[in-house]
Amino acid sequence: MAQETLTLRNNSTGKEVEFSLLKGTVGTPVVDVSTLHKQMGLFTYDPGFMSTASCKSAITYIDGEQGILLYRGYPIDQLAEKCSFLEVAYLLMNGELGNKEEQAVFEHEIGQHAMLHEAMRSFIDGFHYDAHPMAMMVGIVGSLSAFYHSELNMDDAEHRRISAMRMLAKMPVIAAACYRHSIGYPYVYPRSDLSYCENFLNMMFSLPSQKYIEKDNYIDPVAVKALNLLFILHADHEQNASTSTVRLASSTGANPYACIAAGIAALWGPAHGGANEAVLSMLAEIGTVDRIPEYIEKAKDKNDPFRLMGFGHRVYKNFDPRATIIRKACYEVLESTSAKDPLFDLALALEDYALKDEYFVEKKLYPNVDFYSGIIYKALNIPVDMFTVMFTIARTAGWVSHWLEMMAEPGQRIGRPRQVYTGKDVRDV
Ligand code: SDX
Repeated sequence: MAQETLTLRNNSTGKEVEFSLLKGTVGTPVVDVSTLHKQMGLFTYDPGFMSTASCKSAITYIDGEQGILLYRGYPIDQLAEKCSFLEVAYLLMNGELGNKEEQAVFEHEIGQHAMLHEAMRSFIDGFHYDAHPMAMMVGIVGSLSAFYHSELNMDDAEHRRISAMRMLAKMPVIAAACYRHSIGYPYVYPRSDLSYCENFLNMMFSLPSQKYIEKDNYIDPVAVKALNLLFILHADHEQNASTSTVRLASSTGANPYACIAAGIAALWGPAHGGANEAVLSMLAEIGTVDRIPEYIEKAKDKNDPFRLMGFGHRVYKNFDPRATIIRKACYEVLESTSAKDPLFDLALALEDYALKDEYFVEKKLYPNVDFYSGIIYKALNIPVDMFTVMFTIARTAGWVSHWLEMMAEPGQRIGRPRQVYTGKDVRDV
């Protein structure tokens, strides 16, 4: 079939040039404008990348209009129903679900890489007790590049694989250490007899004075199930801001740990992964159902910087499929922990009110993944300032998968966008 093209005509010069239209497996076709400057002396202008595809990727597909999210072609609701987080991590990194043996080898290796270099303790202890855990995560993950000097030949696929496994393995250990540091409790080492989520809960909440208690007494299976679900739902999301940050940093050939630290920094923002923490603060500020109308009006007021946190999305102009799944899980977790959380009732009332409001309907602003996740984390006794750290643990699977995909691509080039210059023309001092 002939290559489909798009003709661009510069009406001021009359020059016309044909550009190829590229199509993926599914989704919006793209115009290949990589030769636009060479052929027409023009740049494209797209602040916020509203209409820009930055790369080709086979990892995740999102359809914002239909509310579809696929990881390597599998619908998110099926993976959430049938898989563990580490099975999904294997899928994202390798392209297929592992068979029993492949998964066992993968999880054994994750266990092997879980320990932190003992010298990291003094690095973690160097933070003030009230440091925000995301500030600690950026610093500590970036410092992994100072602790690991081996397996850093980025041209070696095995070195890349080991670096990715190290990050996936160590992220929950670092996250739990940040929390323990903030409450002045001793660190808890990862254990090989616990699953990824069981280990995280154990490293977060076990008490040294507490003798070993059967898993089902101490590590609540409801919490383990909820964590697996939340980690799966947050694992990847195409070229979001933090993943794009990881890709751009990696395009320079920088140390992989430093590139993931850059992604953590980007995720922290309240417009991105920091929204889950911001949702809880917003709900606490609203306080009661009768104050919802006042805050909905604030969110609509262009002169008021207040936005309804947990609502809206650059891609989803329908329900975020993850929010739908988390909303259901909220009920289950609150039922089973009998944690009657007034914030959950307030969240439901706020959602109901916003979805009936003309402004939110017209702008297609629906609850996103961050709207309900905080409610579950709160029910699991995760402190609010650790919510984005939870997102970090999960998204590490997506970041390292995109990093592996990008680094394996031949002919990688450094990412270097241009600009519209609005400063002074040349002038003499
Ligand atoms: C995540 O990219 C990803 O995939 C991200 C993520 C992932 O998994 O990686 O899904 C995770 O980051 C989810 C989003 C979490 N952020 C929030 O919940 C923060 C609140 N949401 C907004 O800040 C906003 O909706 C964004 C940042 C999510 C999206 O911003 P866009 O796409 O740039 O949309 P926009 O700012 O251009 O908004 C379009 C209109 C504007 O009004 P107009 O200028 O057209 O009149 O909608 C309004 C906005 O003012 N609007 C909101 C709003 N979100 C958008 N108004 C009130 N409250 C909101 N939350």
